[in-house]
Amino acid sequence: MNRISDQELLDIQKQFPSALSYLTSIFIINREYGKVGNSRLASRLKVSKPAANQAMGRLKKLGYAEQAPYESIRLTSEGLRFAESVLIRHYLIEHLLISKLDYPWEKSDDEAQRLQASLSEDFTKYLYEYFGHPRTCPHGNPFPGALGEEELINAERVSKAPMLTDLVLIRITEEGEARDGLLPFCHKMDLYPGKKLQVNARDDQNITVIMDDKEIRIPLEIAGFLCYRPLGD
Ligand SMILES: [Fe+2]
Repeated sequence: MNRISDQELLDIQKQFPSALSYLTSIFIINREYGKVGNSRLASRLKVSKPAANQAMGRLKKLGYAEQAPYESIRLTSEGLRFAESVLIRHYLIEHLLISKLDYPWEKSDDEAQRLQASLSEDFTKYLYEYFGHPRTCPHGNPFPGALGEEELINAERVSKAPMLTDLVLIRITEEGEARDGLLPFCHKMDLYPGKKLQVNARDDQNITVIMDDKEIRIPLEIAGFLCYRPLGD
């Protein structure tokens, strides 16, 4: 499950302090879209494109990523090992913050981002056992290699859901989690994974859903980051 030692984690951060944020972001974008461009990477990390290009140069030199001219960025097996192990730490911290410390669900992603590189190998294993080998983070994103990972990643978005059909909200995408204000909106509206809903109206800007006998209006730009499965599947 976890495949990096404490020393390796310290070493990579000494070599290149933001390497782990880059590697996890490349992993996440690739898992979601099947390819990784420099612009999408820069925007996810909220850095300029030249800064992302420069970081890519360093990651290539260090053997963590590859990119042929005009091609998608790819992680090497070494880069992948770090990305998966750190993402697992991120998800476990979110579980710890939310289910044991009552830390707000909508703020846990930011905090996990800060803490993800500081968990020891031992504590990571402990948390994984403690939480009973979770398959997803508290926002519904699958652990790397978890059962059902592909299905969750490929799940349809609520913005395109059929009308008047019973649905279950299953995931708020990583990209959605990173968007300013999106998790607070979901929290305010009670839009959590596991919630049952039905789309009953849509226009150019919004969809309206019925959830817990309430009507909620969701901007399409938010609904595009929410994934569902039909109820009963
Ligand atoms: Fe999450």
